[in-house]
Amino acid sequence: DNGEFVKIVEVGPRDGLQNEKAIVPLHTKISLIERLSTTGLTVIEAGSFVAPKWVPQMADSTSILSHLLRSPPPAPQPVTYPFLVPNLKGLESALPRTTPPPPSAGASEIAIFASASEGFSLKNLNCSIDTSFERFAPVVQKALENNIKVRGYVSMVISCPYSGDTPPEKVVQVTKRLLDMGCYEVSLGDTTGVGNPYTIDVLMKALIDGGVPVDKLACHFHDTYGQAIVNCMVGLANGVRVFDSSVAGLGGCPYAKGATGNVATEDLVYFLHSVGMKTGVDLEKVSEVGAWISDAIGRKNNSKVGPALLAK
Ligand code: HMG
Ligand code: MG
Repeated sequence: DNGEFVKIVEVGPRDGLQNEKAIVPLHTKISLIERLSTTGLTVIEAGSFVAPKWVPQMADSTSILSHLLRSPPPAPQPVTYPFLVPNLKGLESALPRTTPPPPSAGASEIAIFASASEGFSLKNLNCSIDTSFERFAPVVQKALENNIKVRGYVSMVISCPYSGDTPPEKVVQVTKRLLDMGCYEVSLGDTTGVGNPYTIDVLMKALIDGGVPVDKLACHFHDTYGQAIVNCMVGLANGVRVFDSSVAGLGGCPYAKGATGNVATEDLVYFLHSVGMKTGVDLEKVSEVGAWISDAIGRKNNSKVGPALLAK
């Protein structure tokens, strides 16, 4: 097969688990990351260095990073494990350590997360969009000085439960600010899954016409209303080749009313392969991981493809 390559950013261990009320044991989180590593995925978002008071589920992200550094999961290809970082305090947890001995390397990639709506910025980061950028600037600078790659997120790219519909120009502006600051890629979050093929197309065209190179964009679509796959199709048709997804469709954002999981990785991979794209992901293996994690945390598997495939 010589289809074009599409990169999948697996966000299950972070976006997927961050919304779980009951704390998922550390060994389950690590096992999820290890199992995902065997499927051919090349990027697996592994946790968040955020305030534990705000998102208790991510409080053990430091242990996850140390584990990944100490015992890199066996994988058929190199895998990057990014962590979310909202401020300098979060970056400290991602940086290489000289003490206590033994010294250890740090994360190779972080992601900062901005909002296209003021209402969500206040809920999620406890500050305005402008203030969030003042806080991101030194984070990005210091990360790049330490050879840590930085990805950017923009949330509420279509509409926000607190601020209403998001003007596409606002998304263009925030996206450009993240790229200008040094992010190598910006992921467009339809946080509450309210986009449809029309609004996503309008947004994509606003970004491209606004001068944002499409190869710097990723789509991060939640599947709350079942539209995530058709919306990914619109991203693909506009030239996007990076998509975020979550195994078994786990997830949601604790600070976004009504947000449920990301598009399921199994469904995304099935769709991409069916239209002739290459992902490098073994659909059957990732479906098995989806079945395992749903069972391990007692959740309904939100993928359609995974259970269908495994039932055959
Ligand atoms: P704040 O309360 O304004 O921060 O929160 P603060 O600086 O006043 O600190 C409050 C306390 O938190 C202090 O502790 C700090 O030390 C501690 P205390 O003195 O009270 O004991 N603290 C930290 N601890 C660990 N790591 C840190 C850190 N920072 C402060 N990095 C803050 C501001 C940004 C910290 C807070 O709002 C926060 O953590 N927000 C994160 C929310 C979050 O993780 N949301 C989910 C991820 S975003 C998402 O899901 C969307 C996405 O998927 C895309 C999409 O779908 O749209 C990416
Ligand atoms: Mg998300």
